[in-house]
Amino acid sequence: MGSAVLEPTHAVRVLPARTDDVGRVAASVVASFVRENPHGVLGVATGGSPMALYASLAELRAEGVVATDQLTLAALDEYVGLDPADPRSYRSYVWQHIAEPWGVAAERVHVPAGSSEDDADEYERVLARLRVGLQIVGIGRNGHIGFNEPGSNPTSRTRIVTLDDDTRRANAPYFGGDVHAVPTRAMTQGIASILAAESIILVAQGAAKAEALRAALQGPVTSAVPASFLQTHPDVTVVADSAALGILS
Ligand code: GLP
Repeated sequence: MGSAVLEPTHAVRVLPARTDDVGRVAASVVASFVRENPHGVLGVATGGSPMALYASLAELRAEGVVATDQLTLAALDEYVGLDPADPRSYRSYVWQHIAEPWGVAAERVHVPAGSSEDDADEYERVLARLRVGLQIVGIGRNGHIGFNEPGSNPTSRTRIVTLDDDTRRANAPYFGGDVHAVPTRAMTQGIASILAAESIILVAQGAAKAEALRAALQGPVTSAVPASFLQTHPDVTVVADSAALGILS
């Protein structure tokens, strides 16, 4: 039986939280950023991990604790081949879980779109113009961030990638459980694009993320675990439950 909180090898701040508190703890970190930067640029992730964070921040907004309306949002990634209006697209996710509940107007919501390298370069230019202040990320169970799969280069920028089979299996529940319905390609911010943010918060819950999180925070900095490049960033906060932190109880 172990009890120690996972100790990162680098200057990463780890905030352990009860599973049902991960969203609130992460939201308090994001709320501090929003209070200091009401017109700031927030990089937003999709997936299940940050959903409670987004809902918690919407509650803080409803209570008048924080004003999110003037933020600009920039998403990490998007499937290639899905209509942006498709409810399974990340554009739809960003609208449903973030922009609408937070009151952010359409002109300040940016999501990668398209299927060509020109489209990817265009999104990279948008990011360079916006300059993300705080980037929210989840982690894939294979150690990916955004859709930067194992093998991703630390100098990578926004580009079209082919998704790993494991990533498609992990995301099948969002496609009615049908792995074949999950697109095979995506446009994702690169590792260098993500690390350009001034600060980063990683949110993780559940035992399925424990090995990836351990490798990301304690293992070597390597393309085999793209999230390990977070160790090279000066300001990273991890909010995770004990299962993701690998704490046995
Ligand atoms: C997808 C997204 C990632 C996300 C990952 C984990 O692959 N592209 O940005 O971090 O899923 O998703 P979840 O939080 O649902 O486990």
